[in-house]
Amino acid sequence: MSMGKHWQARAGTPLRGTLAIPGDKSVSHRSIMFAALADGVSKIDGFLEGEDTRATAAIFARLGVQIETPSPSQRIVHGVGIDGLRGCDAALDCGNAGTGMRLLAGLLAAQSFDSTLVGDASLSKRPMRRVTLPLAKMGARIDTEGDGTPPLRIHGGQALVGIDHTLEVASAQVKSALLLAGLYAQGETVVREPHPTRDYTERMLAAFGVDIDFSPGYARLRGGQRLRATDVAVPADVSSAAFFLVAASIVPGSELRLRQVGLNPRRTGLLAALRMMGADIREEHAGVHGGEPVADLVVRHAPLRGIEVPEALVPDMIDEFPALFVAAACAEGPTVVRGAAELRVKESDRLGVMAAGLRTLGLQVDETPDGATIHPGPLGSGVIESYDDHRIAMAFAVAAQRSSGAVQIRDVATVATSFPGFDVLARGAGFGLS
Ligand code: S3P
Repeated sequence: MSMGKHWQARAGTPLRGTLAIPGDKSVSHRSIMFAALADGVSKIDGFLEGEDTRATAAIFARLGVQIETPSPSQRIVHGVGIDGLRGCDAALDCGNAGTGMRLLAGLLAAQSFDSTLVGDASLSKRPMRRVTLPLAKMGARIDTEGDGTPPLRIHGGQALVGIDHTLEVASAQVKSALLLAGLYAQGETVVREPHPTRDYTERMLAAFGVDIDFSPGYARLRGGQRLRATDVAVPADVSSAAFFLVAASIVPGSELRLRQVGLNPRRTGLLAALRMMGADIREEHAGVHGGEPVADLVVRHAPLRGIEVPEALVPDMIDEFPALFVAAACAEGPTVVRGAAELRVKESDRLGVMAAGLRTLGLQVDETPDGATIHPGPLGSGVIESYDDHRIAMAFAVAAQRSSGAVQIRDVATVATSFPGFDVLARGAGFGLS
């Protein structure tokens, strides 16, 4: 990742056009992993060409999986079968990707060989005990640093046994790590969640022929099953679309069409929150793409009002709070967020970093341990630290579209982890961004 890249952002023109948003990050990671473990050849369409998902593909290549790139956003994966991965002596670099590292922790804990997982500066600070502790209950041996952070040193050759585990925090990554380990474990693995989270692992394992029983907040599978190659069509990432939904809502005169965005019900919390705030977002040409509901999202500028974000929506919009904070900043009346302590352990402390950035632009934001109250007002100019968090950088590029002056956003290179080409697409739509 090249450091030291900054953006100058300022109000542009009304946002107009039809945009193609890149592929979903969660689905792209899983598509590579499951295709690699399957028997046979799988084709992936709509793969996210982001640094996170490419890091996952590169790791599987190092584990002996042949992966071709016939054209951008396509992959042909020659699966090696559930027992066909080869060990790699060098450390495996997950880059910025929590999803990559946590899912791989479950998968690699079940292999006959040792592995080491490392990440970039941000990932190296993120909590891993949430995966290593339940995996240890299954018989896995994984060492972390003393404070539970990466690198993960995974000792292979352990015989795993299935568990019936209730997650402490709602986390699709932890759930998925346990299910992947469960594929190799003796007996059944059951994962129960305090709040249902995205179920891509469950849906996709089923598509790869695994017998898995799941419903919101619950998943169960038996160890010893094989995966059968299948083609995967990755929908557009609603978390990337989020920035344009908010931007068009807050910039007068805007109307954008975002084509065929993935609308998995566990991902649509921001849509619900924005609609509660008065946003004008219509769904057109609804259909199903790769087993996921999709629709064009047509968003027009509309005056927004502040809300109390229902806590039940938090897991369904866990990645969308940077965007939500910007919508709240431009609304009429305060917006209150509660029950979102998880935001403090994302790619950055998103509650603290968003609050600090909005204060820099002149707003009052009251922080609590698990949330914040955003008091809207006119946005001024300033220098924003992104803390190398892609979604913070994009959120402030959106905020700047309503600022009275210039906003410098520092260290934006990580935007390429989830949304390569964001700046080009945004400029084309009318953003002031260079
Ligand atoms: C993801 C799960 C969520 C989300 C992340 C992607 C996934 O993380 O924030 O961006 O692909 O499973 P948690 O499991 O930590 O909530």
